[in-house]
Amino acid sequence: MKLNTDFVRGYSYITSDEEKKLERIQKSIEEKSSMLDWIDIDTCVSKEEKQEIKKVAKQLREKYQVFIVIGIGGSYLGSKAVIESLSPYFPKEEQREIIFAGYQLSSSYLKELLQYIEDKEVCLLVISKSGSTLEPAVSFDVLKNHLKAKYSNYQERIVVITDRDRGILRREAQEEGYLSFEVPKNIGGRYSVLSAVGLLPIALSGIDIDKLLKGASSMRDCFKEAKMFATIRDHLEYVGKNIEMITVYEEKLTSFAMWYQQLFAETQGKNHKGILPVVNLNTTNLHSVGQYLQDGTRNVFETVIKVKKSDELFLDKYKIDMHELNSLVQEQVAKAHLKGDTLSIVIEIDELSPFCLGQLIYFLEMSAAIGGYLLDVDPFDQPGVEEYKKLVNEKLEENK
Ligand code: PA5
Repeated sequence: MKLNTDFVRGYSYITSDEEKKLERIQKSIEEKSSMLDWIDIDTCVSKEEKQEIKKVAKQLREKYQVFIVIGIGGSYLGSKAVIESLSPYFPKEEQREIIFAGYQLSSSYLKELLQYIEDKEVCLLVISKSGSTLEPAVSFDVLKNHLKAKYSNYQERIVVITDRDRGILRREAQEEGYLSFEVPKNIGGRYSVLSAVGLLPIALSGIDIDKLLKGASSMRDCFKEAKMFATIRDHLEYVGKNIEMITVYEEKLTSFAMWYQQLFAETQGKNHKGILPVVNLNTTNLHSVGQYLQDGTRNVFETVIKVKKSDELFLDKYKIDMHELNSLVQEQVAKAHLKGDTLSIVIEIDELSPFCLGQLIYFLEMSAAIGGYLLDVDPFDQPGVEEYKKLVNEKLEENK
């Protein structure tokens, strides 16, 4: 993994005052003072739990065709990001199907899903740290009733990942005897992809979780690069560039960009501060928002996720390999945008593999946390998300 700052002009520096602050930040991160267990892989997932995840995934893959992962925010974005980035565009027959639910409140989606699974062997994987989030609770209820009506032993088809001791979902898992895993206490949703929360769905899809974790571990000492990325973003925000296009040139990375968006938006968007991250798929969007990026209001920058190697496909007509062409366009766009004062930070990974994604995930988690501390906000809470929930709950109470 490489951070390329060629397209950010004079913003990639660290002043001595910033350096002092960053030293304090590093110290407090290393002390794991709060919600920081994700910084070491063995506190994300123990060796025993990892073995159990692999064993359970293997058993479930033998029994079921379709897995429905029910969760929202940090409880589903990470696994969706990894699974979609590493799966073929067009599914192969032997592949298990992973469907996500409970991340919105569309009645059509749920009704059509019920029809779709009617004659399929289905297993539900319900993920919620609190156990009480509305969207997954609604989907779980509907899908569980569907299983209940079909099977007397429906409990065998439900796996729960939630807090070890607290919450309604933990209670239900104990009463009903569902198979269950834990969301680690000191890891928040958006930092949980390398715990059971992300690892079980990823393993169910057939992806090698050992390689993913190995990639993440290899970045344990990435503070130096992560602090540079976080500081550049901080400088850009300071000069009014407070919209970040998370630009990908490979459609498979769109869900990864959505995970990134949540990670940074919920970590840093507080106290009227923070950059707004926006998912941007290229070259598709060069023919839509590209105009704005080149020539619109100058409050935007880009973070490009570049994949160095991909499938070879030589284009006889253009005398160039297609992936090289994609990279060539990416580089020329960065140059053109730079001329228009839209700067780009480029994060380059070698290839779309479990190892490289593990590296990227760890690097981004570390950068997001550092960026939160640089802004003097708590990187691990999300008080703004609670506000609408309160209003919805008040209305729902009126219905009872
Ligand atoms: O990052 C976070 O903490 C949030 O996005 C949560 O993951 C999200 O709100 C879902 O919460 P829960 O897992 O409690 O259902």
